[in-house]
Amino acid sequence: MLIKRSPQGIDLPLPSEITPRAVFESRREFIRTLALGAVAGSGLWEMANREAFAQAPGAQKLSAALNPAYALLEKKTAYKDATTYNNFYEFGTDKADPAQTAGTLRPRPWTVSIEGEVKKPLLLDLDSLQKLAPLEERIYRLRCVEGWSMVIPWVGYSLSHLLKKVEPTSNARYVEFITLEDKKQMPGLRSPVLEWPYVEGLRLDEANHPLALLTVGMYGEVLPNQNGAPVRIVVPWKYGFKSAKSIVKIRFTKDQPRTAWNLAAPNEYGFYSNVNPNVDHPRWSQATERRIGEDGFFARKRKTLMFNGYPEVASLYAGMDLKKFY
Ligand code: MTE
Repeated sequence: MLIKRSPQGIDLPLPSEITPRAVFESRREFIRTLALGAVAGSGLWEMANREAFAQAPGAQKLSAALNPAYALLEKKTAYKDATTYNNFYEFGTDKADPAQTAGTLRPRPWTVSIEGEVKKPLLLDLDSLQKLAPLEERIYRLRCVEGWSMVIPWVGYSLSHLLKKVEPTSNARYVEFITLEDKKQMPGLRSPVLEWPYVEGLRLDEANHPLALLTVGMYGEVLPNQNGAPVRIVVPWKYGFKSAKSIVKIRFTKDQPRTAWNLAAPNEYGFYSNVNPNVDHPRWSQATERRIGEDGFFARKRKTLMFNGYPEVASLYAGMDLKKFY
């Protein structure tokens, strides 16, 4: 491109070099469409990998519009990988176990009780829970503490919609998520790997952050059992174990809840567990991650991002030493 000098000494393009605005804008729109089509929707990628994206036969579809504010522009993890490589210790400790054994979970009928430090406790069945707010599709990155990640199109709505319904009292400072404990449905409960039920927790302001998702589906369908049917949370800026599956009770508390992994190994799994490449797990580094589906000899490691790439949550931790509050 030819450059001329302006009187102020600033380099300016020659008028003949300037692309007319209409042409420039249509080109920009074209590039945007291409990028969105190729990356976010990953239409071509999904078509080329049709088998890996084939979904559960007969699963209930959920209609949910993609929320563009939460549509991560990365290739989605294949449905097959997201539903056969799971952590759900109530169904076994091997990654392949939940897909094989979670058929015994009965996701209907199901109720969720919202109680504790609230003025209006609520008991909701699944249909009422699904209808409480408009369902959205959100494409989030989920980073497991073990060093792998996936990109999943979840279906749900901001947890805050549900939390405000019960009107927390002035004592409420934390929210505890208690998951199903039923030996008849969950063979893994016979093994004492964790204290059952699986419990997780968030500070109230974390739970009210719009990113925290009350999740009832993925890939446009109800959650498969192994992914936490019929209702779980997804907290994308925290390690995956904070995203409790198959929730039956949500309790507002004054004191910080005692959570399953924190009880099992307090020096390894903190209450906060924000994704943080600068704070290593005592037994391994957290600086990089392996994207599920990119395995193989030439698979590159990806750099793990602070708060898993969701910097908008940083203000929740202003003034806190995140090495101490890991
Ligand atoms: N929730 C319950 N009830 N039981 C569990 O064992 N595992 C957690 C979390 N939620 C777990 C759970 C962990 S360690 C991770 S990484 C994520 O679920 C995995 O979610 P996914 O299998 O849908 O990828």
